[in-house]
Formats: sequence, C-alpha cells, structure tokens
Amino acid sequence: MQHYAEAVKGFAQDHTTGLTAALLAGVGLMAFRRWMAGGVCRSKASLEGKTVLITGANTGIGKETALDMAQRGARVILACRDLTRARIAADEIRQKSGNGNVVVKKLDLASLQSVRDLARDVQETESRLDILINNAGIMMCPKWETEDGFEMQFGVNHLGHFLLTSCLLDLLKKSAPSRVVIVSSLAHEKGHIHFDDINLDKDYEPELSYRQSKLANVLFGKELAARLQGTGVTVYSLHPGVIRTELGRHLFPSLALWKRVVASVVMTMFKSPWQGAQTTIYCAVDESLVNVSGLYYSDCAPKTPAAQARDDAAAKKLWELSASMVGLA
Ligand SMILES: NC(=O)c1ccc[n+]([C@@H]2O[C@H](COP(=O)([O-])OP(=O)(O)OC[C@H]3O[C@@H](n4cnc5c(N)ncnc54)[C@H](OP(=O)(O)O)[C@@H]3O)[C@@H](O)[C@H]2O)c1
Ligand SMILES: *[C@@H]1O[C@H](CO)[C@@H](O)[C@H](O)[C@H]1NC(C)=O
Repeated sequence: MQHYAEAVKGFAQDHTTGLTAALLAGVGLMAFRRWMAGGVCRSKASLEGKTVLITGANTGIGKETALDMAQRGARVILACRDLTRARIAADEIRQKSGNGNVVVKKLDLASLQSVRDLARDVQETESRLDILINNAGIMMCPKWETEDGFEMQFGVNHLGHFLLTSCLLDLLKKSAPSRVVIVSSLAHEKGHIHFDDINLDKDYEPELSYRQSKLANVLFGKELAARLQGTGVTVYSLHPGVIRTELGRHLFPSLALWKRVVASVVMTMFKSPWQGAQTTIYCAVDESLVNVSGLYYSDCAPKTPAAQARDDAAAKKLWELSASMVGLA
C-alpha cells in the first residue's frame, strides 16, 4: 500500500506539468461539452387529447422529439419515407413512453404527390392537429432532384414542408391554439436565396444549397406567422444545436480517411439527440410562447437570426415563388 502511494507521489512529482495539462484539458473539455449541451425544455405541459405530427421522426432529433411528445400523452404521427424504419421507431417510442397512440404515416418530401397524399389522409382521418413539426431534412447531398425536378435540399427541406404546412392549415386553425415548429439551422446565417437560379443549376455546391434551404426555413416561418396573425396558430423556427445524428451521411463518405477519423472524434463532443431535441420541444409546448409567433430560437431562447433572414421583402418573394413551384395558386 505504502509502495503504491509512494509510487503515485513519485509519478506525480515527475509529471506535474503533464498532469496539470491533462487536468486542465479535462476541465476544459467538460466545460466545452456543457456549453455544447445548451438549453433544456423545463415545461411540464401535458399533451393529453392533442395530436402532434412530426416529419422525419424515424431517427435523429425527430425521433427524440416524438418520444417526448408521446411521454406528454399526445397522439403522435410519425410522417416518414421509410416505413420499415418508422415502424421500428414507433415500437420503441410506444414501449419507452407507455403511450400506444403512436402511428406511422408515409411521407416522402421529395414528392409533391406524396405530400398531398399524406395531407389528404390526415385531413380525412384526424379530427385535430395541434402541433406540426417540420423536422425532416437532408444535408449536403450531391446534385440530386426531387420527383418534381427541384434541387433535392431546397425541395425536401423547404418546398415539401411549405406544401405540407399549407395543406394542413385548415386543420391547424380548427384546433387553435396550435403551433407550427420549423427546424432550421445556424447554417442559414451564411445562406442566400438564389432567386434567379433557385435550383442552383448554374453552380451547384452542396453547402450553398443546404444554407439556402435553411434560410428558406426561417423566412417561411416569418412570413407564415405574419399571414396567420389572429388565427391562434403560432409559428417558431429554430437551430437545434450541433448534434450526433445521421445528418452527415452524404458528407461523410466524400471525406478523406483522416478527416473521417477526426470527424468521428469531434462528433463525440456534439449534443446528443435528446439534447438536440430540446429547443424543438420548447417551441412545441412551452406555455410562455402561446402569444409569441414568427421568432427564431436557439438553446431554448429567442435569438436574432441573420439579417437576410429578417428581410420582409425576401420572405414575401420566397412565398410567392414557393407557391408557384408547388402549384398553389
Ligand atoms: N444534426 C445537426 O447537427 C443539425 C444541425 C442543425 C440543424 N439540423 C436540422 O435538424 C433536422 C433533423 O436532422 P437530424 O440531425 O435529426 O438528421 P437525421 O438523423 O439525418 O434525420 C433526418 C430525418 O429526415 C428524414 N428525411 C430525409 N429526407 C426525407 C424525405 N425526402 N422525406 C421524408 N423524410 C426525409 C430522414 O428519413 P430517412 O431516415 O428515411 O432518411 C430522417 O428521418 C434537419 O432539418 C436538419 O437540417 C440538424
Ligand atoms: C396570452 O394572451 C392572453 C390574451 O391576451 C392572455 O390572457 C394571457 O395571459 C397571455 N399569456 C401569456 C403567457 O402571455
């Protein structure tokens, strides 16, 4: 025992600098992780008797959000493109929450027909819709096209959700007070809406397109809120944080091996999906937001979005363009 203690003491004396550095690095890392973790939704609001629809809820932060809504007693609709993965997620959510009222519906946001079919199904079979969460997203894929010929990231992240929300507005209004929550990203800050080349046909860059689509999310939230004033339907857009999910799936394979290794290490410091879902949950249920609409949130608090996301004229122009692209008069 004494030998051991002396050995430790000797080691410590010989390695004071190294140990101090390791300690500091450890403390720094913990502080960094705490900072990354961000806010937590503290609301205990019950959702008994309410219905929530979440897009892209089979994985990532959508799945965590769905679990939280189920735990609050809501009827939860997982609107997903991959029914097998969605059913597995629904089983898990039912089991963890003890709430059997969790259903799966087919939605491929890369197809306007699929969006219309889902919206019709919901209108015909659901008596109410209290919270719509536009969560699904695709990031930095190659230049792909949706079924209707739109650039994939703009098509899925913005246009599909634009049409879905428009089609469900009557049901949301009937269920007021109700909410629309739009999952955007910090990436909007470097975004630009390329009105003269919205599909980025001239010069496609995966990052450029992702930023444009996430800026479109914030502008849509702003314009939608303005149009819904007085209806009891309120709108929120948000940045969820930087989170360990499958979102990097198209980015990852294109990286060099060493970059993938570094990225894997850095990923361990990101928010967990549970942490990443907190701002979405906050916007969906927090009682303090009932009379607030059209703002952007981060870490469970309002945040001023980038200047180009506060541009009223651009928000109106994007609305008109989107409406014509999805065939809404
Ligand atoms: N992770 C982050 O650090 C981060 C940061 C800022 C913003 N966000 C935003 O957070 C949201 C959720 O992302 P996540 O991180 O949870 O990513 P994720 O794990 O990749 O989940 C994305 C979800 O979207 C679904 N989806 C993709 N394309 C779809 C389509 N055409 N139709 C229907 N669903 C589709 C996916 O379905 P499949 O499983 O079938 O592909 C999946 O359920 C996104 O809007 C993203 O932009 C994330
Ligand atoms: C919301 O507005 C209503 C009606 O004006 C008011 O009675 C209520 O106190 C407000 N709630 C909050 C949390 O601000």
